[in-house]
Amino acid sequence: MSLLLHRDMFGIPANAGKVLSRQEAEELFSLWVLNPRLQLHMKQVAHLMKCWAAETEGLTDQDQWRWEMAGLLHDADWDQWPSLHCKKIIQELEERNVDPEIIHAIASHGPLHFGVEPVTKMDKMLYAFDELSGLLHAYALMRPGGYDGMELKGVKKRLKEKSFAANVSREDIDDACNRAEIVLDDLITFIIPRQATVK
Ligand SMILES: [Fe+2]
Repeated sequence: MSLLLHRDMFGIPANAGKVLSRQEAEELFSLWVLNPRLQLHMKQVAHLMKCWAAETEGLTDQDQWRWEMAGLLHDADWDQWPSLHCKKIIQELEERNVDPEIIHAIASHGPLHFGVEPVTKMDKMLYAFDELSGLLHAYALMRPGGYDGMELKGVKKRLKEKSFAANVSREDIDDACNRAEIVLDDLITFIIPRQATVK
């Protein structure tokens, strides 16, 4: 089953800056995403995107929401329509006249799967957070204290164990860090305390 999108333009330039309201995005999220594990994953990635936009990029509230929205909806069609991932959410956001940059970020969050290269910082961070967030969550689930006391060292050990959270692509993680020009250790250290707050 190929998920290749066979295009690299999404939305239209005239829609730059247009977003869904938080309520509209949350309505779409609850309607489309029924699996609680996937819901949590998407909320975690959304929060990391917002934190990065605010703390590292120093963006305005409006721009932070654009980043957060990309995270919140990036897997919206995975639950009910896996063979249409991420065509269906792209089409929905295009019909709703959403900012092309947000749609591009969603379209490029798995370059190997969708065949779309991450270009902007938003694209690259969504790609980088996606897999790594999943690995940290799997690690938190097996630790008695969850995220409490989780250290970089432990996460790196799990990353090296190929059988641990085997569905998490180590290749994607390395590729994403290289593209975003971020040191893996710094990204892990950023994620731990922030992801810990998402319930
Ligand atoms: Fe994801």
